[in-house]
Amino acid sequence: MPVDILVGTQWGDEGKGKLIDVLTRDVDAVVRFQGGNNAGHTVEIGDRHYVLHLVPSGIFRPGVKCVIGNGVVVDPVALDAEIRELEAKEIDTGAIELSNRAQLIFAYHKAADALNEQGAKVKIGTTGRGIGPAYSDKMRRTGIRAIDLTSPERLSAQFRTEAAKYNRLFAEAGAPQLDIEAELAKMLEAATRLAPLVTDTVYSVNAAIKAGKNVLFEGAQGALLDIDHGTYPFVTSSNTTSGGACTGGGVPPQCIRDVWGVIKAYTTRVGAGPFPTELFDATGEKLRQVGREFGATTGRPRRCGWFDAVASRYACMVNGVNKLAVTKLDVLDDLEQIAICVGYRINGKVTDQFPAALADLEAAQPVLEYHPGWKCDISGARSWSDLPENARKYLARMAELVDSEIAIISVGPRRDQTFAR
Ligand code: GDP
Ligand code: IMO
Ligand code: MG
Repeated sequence: MPVDILVGTQWGDEGKGKLIDVLTRDVDAVVRFQGGNNAGHTVEIGDRHYVLHLVPSGIFRPGVKCVIGNGVVVDPVALDAEIRELEAKEIDTGAIELSNRAQLIFAYHKAADALNEQGAKVKIGTTGRGIGPAYSDKMRRTGIRAIDLTSPERLSAQFRTEAAKYNRLFAEAGAPQLDIEAELAKMLEAATRLAPLVTDTVYSVNAAIKAGKNVLFEGAQGALLDIDHGTYPFVTSSNTTSGGACTGGGVPPQCIRDVWGVIKAYTTRVGAGPFPTELFDATGEKLRQVGREFGATTGRPRRCGWFDAVASRYACMVNGVNKLAVTKLDVLDDLEQIAICVGYRINGKVTDQFPAALADLEAAQPVLEYHPGWKCDISGARSWSDLPENARKYLARMAELVDSEIAIISVGPRRDQTFAR
């Protein structure tokens, strides 16, 4: 009955989509448990390139059940479009289930997201997908759930009430009014197509676990964007860490076997917020160009920097990571020297703990340790012994610093550019 969780251990975009696709070779069901279409998970198979936002990254393996769990916030219009786009590429989408308990994102959430950012003194740099406002409505207990997609009358009534409330807020803020009936019509069209997918996934996932199936939970974002554990307030609005899989999937903690932590061989971040190892020089630009570090959802250039062992050790501790998948090692191929951040100097004092205070994170100067590069192309490596010694030493040091074990190494975006330790 192995149930595993895969999460990002940095600020997102670690390569979770690729790893889910690789691991799904041996899996019966993949379950998204938090976030929404703020996620952009890339899967490359041969010369085909896909970016998934709401559909689980197991979709490319025929027969794998793909579950959008209760903890996800779902924009029905976006989900419908994503499914149709996959179908146009001849991907079988027949195995998608949408939790009846999942909260929905509507046009008014996206408008509120934009308005919050415009009006804020401190801009988070959100993806603009309405994530924060939708989770706020969930907590405020005014959200609308996927179960209502199956009842157009109930859905329309609730939508009109909530949209009118938002329009009053928009009027107060001098923002444009939402055309409620036009948005409703668009949404009802999507609802008609999505209604057959609405399932009590808490029962279906628990039944799969009980039947001894292999279930893999697919995290979105990363630990440092977690609403509790991340660099608050520069975070997303959900629990991106492994505990979120239990609440966001409706499964008990004792069914979990492994927690996979996906860890990029360097660090990136999109949007605003502290990033102690960020590089503003030619090396940062090189990482961005070689690593193609441009957002899979918004296309924004990602900020790049050295591997931050302080942040990732914290992430591995909170998640209980017992298997590391290191990605994008190949991006470092060309570097003479590679640094790892092993501590933060904050107002003259050195610590190896990840601070909670924003001011401390902003003041943190990285304490760097330098490693010699390997200066050769490793994208063709298919085993540990294929790697140059300096690359093996670098990986071993990463694992030691985050106190976990490397299980998989990824040396390129494609499925076959992956091997076990
Ligand atoms: P996710 O959000 O964690 O799924 O990651 P993204 O898809 O947003 O970003 C990861 C990017 O790196 C994608 O473009 C992947 O195709 C690519 N990628 C994944 N693993 C590797 C790797 O080992 N090497 C290289 N060069 N690219 C990779
Ligand atoms: P995947 O799953 C990287 C970031 C945004 C912003 C902050 C809040 O592809 O790794 P939100 O729209 O969630 O309210 O934005 O979180 N962010 C991501 N950064 N990868 C992601 O997802 C992200 N999802 C949200 O850039 O800083
Ligand atoms: Mg991404």
